[in-house]
Amino acid sequence: MKITVTDLDGNDHVIEGKAGWTLMESIRDAGLPIKAECGGACACATCHVYVDMDWLDATGERSEEEEDMIDLALEVEDSSRLACQIELSDALEGLKVKLARDAVL
Ligand code: FES
Repeated sequence: MKITVTDLDGNDHVIEGKAGWTLMESIRDAGLPIKAECGGACACATCHVYVDMDWLDATGERSEEEEDMIDLALEVEDSSRLACQIELSDALEGLKVKLARDAVL
């Protein structure tokens, strides 16, 4: 499935996402910068992304564990999510997200 990822400079990258894998893994596998320091264990905030407003419902709610980690992230917005906590499915074809600074820098 196609996913559009906007980098810190505002450039869009269309990457290939795989159903059953996480958004973080797909961003990483596409070669885009995402630190994801804990490897997807919901134990850091370095896979922070902003989900496009049109996709908030489709990506679901943050879990309590994710909420705790988001509290540690910088520049948190209503659309903030941890990319390792979004499992891709065909319903997310066309998803749009933007990398957050603490995922990259
Ligand atoms: Fe650490 Fe997502 S990679 S919380």
